Amino acid sequence: MKKYQQLLLQNRAWVEQKLLEDKDFFNRLANVQKPEFLWIGCADSRVPANEITGTQPGEVFVHRNIANMVVHTDMNMLSVLDYAVNVLQVNHVIVCGHYGCGGVRAAMQHKQVGLIDNWIRHIKDVYRMHQDELEKIQDMKKREDRFIELNVIEQVYDLGKTSIIQNAWQSRGAPYIHGWVYDIRNGLIQDLNVSMNDDSGMSEVYRFEKLS
Ligand code: CO
Repeated sequence: MKKYQQLLLQNRAWVEQKLLEDKDFFNRLANVQKPEFLWIGCADSRVPANEITGTQPGEVFVHRNIANMVVHTDMNMLSVLDYAVNVLQVNHVIVCGHYGCGGVRAAMQHKQVGLIDNWIRHIKDVYRMHQDELEKIQDMKKREDRFIELNVIEQVYDLGKTSIIQNAWQSRGAPYIHGWVYDIRNGLIQDLNVSMNDDSGMSEVYRFEKLS
């Protein structure tokens, strides 16, 4: 059997298991999607949003890209964000990075990889913003870990800079935006404690005037 065919077989087994636990599982999900969370995570295969948070289909709206970036010209990310915040009305947006992130590591190095170098550039900008703090850390592994955390924190702020989030904060005081980091070495998620649901911690220049 080809390896990809195994996936289809496993899908059949999964459906059987789900129906065994709850015969209406798919009927319920087919009719409505009302997730409470938007997850913005890394595309890394070791960081599957539902599995590591113990959530079921229907519970988390998911957007993943290399190094969990919030790039404000990214139509894909903006569309997911707009739909999640304004149509699904999620109350929490979680940016989750992970230690050992290849995208962040590449941003600390100088090798050309190809087209992806242009994506990595956004991560290099985060390095430049925090260069002093990062270069005080002599241990390269610890420096990389801190860079990963700072990258998550900057993406949280970048979400707050969007009109999508600022308008939602004004109209309904939500969503909360959270920054987390997942440790691929032990499976644990750590909250970086940068949650925000208003623009009070934000540089003046990024604040839009309130819509009346
Ligand atoms: Co990654």
